[in-house]
Amino acid sequence: MANLQEKKQREQWGSRLGFVLAASGSAIGLGNLWKFPYMAGENGGGAFVLIYLVLLVIVGFTLMLAELTLGRYTQLNAIGAYKKVREKWAWVGALGVLAGFMILAFYSVVGGWVINYVFKAVTGAFNTTDMGVLGGMFGSMITNPIEPLIFHAIFMALTLGIVIGGVKNGIEKYAKILMPALFIMLLIIMVRSLTLPGAMEGVRFFLAPDFSKITGAVVLAALGQVFFSLSLGMGCMITYGSYISKDEDLLQSSLAVPLLDTGAALIAGLAILPAVFAFGFDPAGGPGLVFITLPAVFSQLPLGGLFGVAFFILVLFAALTSAISLLEVVVAYVVDEWKWTRKKATFIIAGIIFALGVPASLSIGPWSEFHILPGKGVFDTLDFVASQILLPVGGILLSIFLGWVLGMDNAIKEATNDGKLRFPLAGTWSILIKYVAPIAITVVFVKGLLDAFGITF
Ligand code: TRP
Repeated sequence: MANLQEKKQREQWGSRLGFVLAASGSAIGLGNLWKFPYMAGENGGGAFVLIYLVLLVIVGFTLMLAELTLGRYTQLNAIGAYKKVREKWAWVGALGVLAGFMILAFYSVVGGWVINYVFKAVTGAFNTTDMGVLGGMFGSMITNPIEPLIFHAIFMALTLGIVIGGVKNGIEKYAKILMPALFIMLLIIMVRSLTLPGAMEGVRFFLAPDFSKITGAVVLAALGQVFFSLSLGMGCMITYGSYISKDEDLLQSSLAVPLLDTGAALIAGLAILPAVFAFGFDPAGGPGLVFITLPAVFSQLPLGGLFGVAFFILVLFAALTSAISLLEVVVAYVVDEWKWTRKKATFIIAGIIFALGVPASLSIGPWSEFHILPGKGVFDTLDFVASQILLPVGGILLSIFLGWVLGMDNAIKEATNDGKLRFPLAGTWSILIKYVAPIAITVVFVKGLLDAFGITF
């Protein structure tokens, strides 16, 4: 209650459902529909999925509650939240804001691909099951120097438009209709995929773990994916938590959001990987997997053309609700701390992120020879550094901060609305936050980095 003025300018979610939808909207995005299937495909299928699920339980739920708790406790943005509790920790929030810049830069490039595919679907460009044709179409789209930049600009402009207009009356309202629509559509596509001849091999690949495929790099990739998919490790959920009212149930939300998110990822995997095998495509095909395989599935569906259009529009919507949460992290900081107007902040930050996305897009086409990290151009470097370095480091620091600086007594008090809510797992949560999460993430992180760069002892 200390700062009435601040509370006044801060928006709050309209309802519990509104918050859960907004947070799920942030979590469910290209990470589930585009990244998860191809990461699983590249990292040994079932082995990756299993590790993902283990890390979801140990780290995912734990840190989701941690971020929401810190956000609501301080009612501030990612940097402000740390600063308010302990001035010297502000840089941890700053690391998160930096990650937000990097992620949105390449995220928006992919968002642009999705818009491009909406148009391709409308014109019926991909009505074939010929993987050579579909692969060629995807390849020439992303390597073109100019075209992806135009769509990247359109995606950034849409994101900007929503963030400027305020989130509550736009996204929250549409999320109620469009997110369920996305789920239903994914389920239909999944059924069609699963009933294609040869699909079972894909199911086996996706669900039966081959333990020989597990390396430090695979575990780190799964960890990075848990953070990325749940929007954790950079203060996104701190920011969203800061808009939650004090009588909301954080415990329930921290279960619901990761469960919905994981459901979406698994359904997406089961929609895509069986089709990959059925059409004889390579599961390690990388970022093109969704864009190349799904059009082939659509061409096997009655009214497939219409389906394709609706599907890519829904993917676009899922991507937008995630992108706005990334932009919001940076905007909330600048508005809170630098006292810029929301409009000025949004325009300038979106402009900088657009600019950063330009070399990311070019690095796939004309600049593909230019590498920043071994074998990685700008696009891959942004993704790798943000998802597999900054987010896990952010997670380690967040759990240390909550467990040892803010203290678990304060945290549990906030998470249970001053003891009003039952929290039987409070003791477990404390141990997870204070010891298990920081140690587990550190071990995976260090071992994974060494493996990723081929350093062995
Ligand atoms: N979770 C989103 C997705 O799966 C992406 C995203 C939104 C994100 N906000 C984030 C990732 C914050 C990391 C951190 O597509």
